[in-house]
Amino acid sequence: MSSQLYSDLLAQSRALTEAEPDLIANLANISALLYEHIDDVNWLGFYLTRSDDELVLGPFQGRVACVRIPFGKGVCGVAAQSQECQRVEDVHQFAGHIACDSASNSEVVAPVVVNGKTVAVLDIDSPSIGRFSEEDEKGIKAIVEYCQSLDWSGLQR
Ligand code: SME
Repeated sequence: MSSQLYSDLLAQSRALTEAEPDLIANLANISALLYEHIDDVNWLGFYLTRSDDELVLGPFQGRVACVRIPFGKGVCGVAAQSQECQRVEDVHQFAGHIACDSASNSEVVAPVVVNGKTVAVLDIDSPSIGRFSEEDEKGIKAIVEYCQSLDWSGLQR
């Protein structure tokens, strides 16, 4: 069951990062962990809010990707601006989708919100249409909730 997978991944994310204060190192390890264990995924990583209205590529696994995404643009920018998780069954039907890797067909983007501000988003892409279920979304949100408890105070903006 994928709920078991996500509760294991949450426990492992915590174990990997709780003794380490460096945010980038922690996000790097969380992205590697998730990419290794969530199947049928071709890109997974964080975009970090570096100014009031722009995301910049952060720790990720997968092919080279676009570096800057304005808030409100693409799936990531919409998640960042709305502070709502975006679960997109078919990215080709999403107006304004930014195609970084042409292999991507579905996507889930969960915003990381700290003190009311979007500090990052976690973006997960799959080559399969409709790859992410409600259960995946729930599990991913729980991991993002944990990410919100990391130390974001040093993030350079
Ligand atoms: N598809 C995303 C852009 C990021 S890449 O997929 C890594 C979007 O539309 O925001």
